[in-house]
Amino acid sequence: MCGIVGAIAQRNVVPILLEGLQRLEYRGYDSAGLAVVNSGQLQLVRSTGRVAELSEKSAETQGQLGIAHTRWATHGVPSERNAHPHLSNDHIAVVHNGIIENYEELRSRLTAGGYVFTSDTDTEVIAHLVHSHYARGNSLLVATQAALAELVGAYAIGVIAADDPERLICARRGSPLLLGVGIEEHFVASDVSALLPVTRQVVYLEEGDVVELLRRSYRIFDASGKQVERTVQTSELSNESVELGQYRHYMQKEIHEQPQALANTLESVCNSQSLVPGIFGAEAAATFADIDSILILACGTSHHAGLVARYWLEAIAGIRCSVEIASEYRYRASVPNPKTLVVVISQSGETADTQAALSHAKAQGHGHTLAICNVPESALVRLCKLRLLTRAGPEIGVASTKAFTTQLAALFLLTLILAKTRGHLTGQQEQQYLHELRHLPSAVQKVLDLEPQIAKLAERFANKQHALFLGRGLHYPIALEGALKLKEISYIHAEAYPAGELKHGPLALVDKDMPVISVAPNDALLEKLKSNLQEVRARGGELYVFADADTHIHAADGIHIMQMPEHAGYLSPILHTIPLQLLAYYVALQKGTDVDKPRNLAKSVTVE
Ligand code: M6R
Repeated sequence: MCGIVGAIAQRNVVPILLEGLQRLEYRGYDSAGLAVVNSGQLQLVRSTGRVAELSEKSAETQGQLGIAHTRWATHGVPSERNAHPHLSNDHIAVVHNGIIENYEELRSRLTAGGYVFTSDTDTEVIAHLVHSHYARGNSLLVATQAALAELVGAYAIGVIAADDPERLICARRGSPLLLGVGIEEHFVASDVSALLPVTRQVVYLEEGDVVELLRRSYRIFDASGKQVERTVQTSELSNESVELGQYRHYMQKEIHEQPQALANTLESVCNSQSLVPGIFGAEAAATFADIDSILILACGTSHHAGLVARYWLEAIAGIRCSVEIASEYRYRASVPNPKTLVVVISQSGETADTQAALSHAKAQGHGHTLAICNVPESALVRLCKLRLLTRAGPEIGVASTKAFTTQLAALFLLTLILAKTRGHLTGQQEQQYLHELRHLPSAVQKVLDLEPQIAKLAERFANKQHALFLGRGLHYPIALEGALKLKEISYIHAEAYPAGELKHGPLALVDKDMPVISVAPNDALLEKLKSNLQEVRARGGELYVFADADTHIHAADGIHIMQMPEHAGYLSPILHTIPLQLLAYYVALQKGTDVDKPRNLAKSVTVE
């Protein structure tokens, strides 16, 4: 998704801007650009290729003040003219993440006032608005503040003016932005990773903040326009670039990192003899004692993790749990309950819909909040009272893999600790679960050993247009996740159903050309599932079954069996996810798609 980098320094900032953009590439983008101030003029370079291409095009460009951007198209197709920065009268340059909702109205007004638009973006209205206020003799800071007051929507912006080489203005509302504090130089970025080569001293901006960056100082103004101080923090993130090593794609690497990622996430618990609420934060014990229900808010794969957790929380901890797609919840009139723990789940911690859903929950009076997140310094972590960090390490592939399974591990810990708090867990059960958690990484490793067989199986999918995924109970969300992975990276249309629902409609789709993939754990619903699989076979559907040991589902004409090494009880969804990730990966290889950067998608979805 869109990324911003800006710098004001005593040295040429172009290499800093380019390296920053390169470090944001994994988030997904379709064009990139930069603008610097040089001898009273703006130099603008834009490209629809990779940042490396922008870098080549910028060989002659230099300046000590500049802004740069990677764009993920929302308004207007990916093209050079729609790439940021956007200029007004060759005088004001703006980069923007987010969406301006009233841009059409502003565009009409500005056009009537003589401004000429050269792009289809919503961002260009910001450049012209700032220019209109600047042309009246206001400073760049005041002109930007005046422009922002007219915007409806979400933004993180950077603004520079050709005739003011001493100032970079930035602001945020609804999109992340942070400052980097250097020695006689300052930076701005939408993600801390962009700034790590130049500084670790960062200031996370708050909603409505507007900042004036000079070389030696900066001033922050809050949403009411009052000058405020914000804490400078030292980022703990690792600066090491993520190497592919022996792997062909980040997705493949990240699938294989799951045993270690799970071990890291579970480390503190597995090394102790008992489960304690403190792993969620100092206030966790008091919070857990006060709640009577859970509300999980998330998007995409993280939402699927929440759906698995609902089964665990209700079955093991005996606590009511509902799970909502964040983008729906945020606009729904719901009935708040102050005794509900609101759990937001996110790999990035920056997903706009999840952030907005959290704000909506808080505005409704929900005070108990918990973030399960993979990025320690992200917005969601900072906005919640309690947190549990998954320790999956940076996830670069757009398709979420190790983030998902570590989210499940974190949610299982939440389940066990709530079960214990609520008197639903005996000491013996606690020790048994701890034992199973310690065993989990090696169980996952054994499933990874199925890779060559799955790669072979994937060949059968290369010419398919559609696929159905089936699961039941605890594993229905895993079927959903398998379908999402397949459609996301192989572009094969895939749907998931609880197997019992087949006969209520989707069975009509089944014929010899429809592959039906089923998750078949050896659990209480196995016999029911087997009947559902018969329904498919009877209609000529080709079955691909990931079956636990002792399920007695046998390979036959039209039935392909992948034997899972063991049944992991309540932790089974984690094991059953792995082959579906591998299947999607190898089908995508067959189809020759861009596995790590699938078309139209972004890693961090920071717009609504
Ligand atoms: O960063 P988040 O976990 O909040 O992201 C939510 C979804 O955008 C994300 O899980 C998406 O569905 C994945 N690309 C799926 O693989």
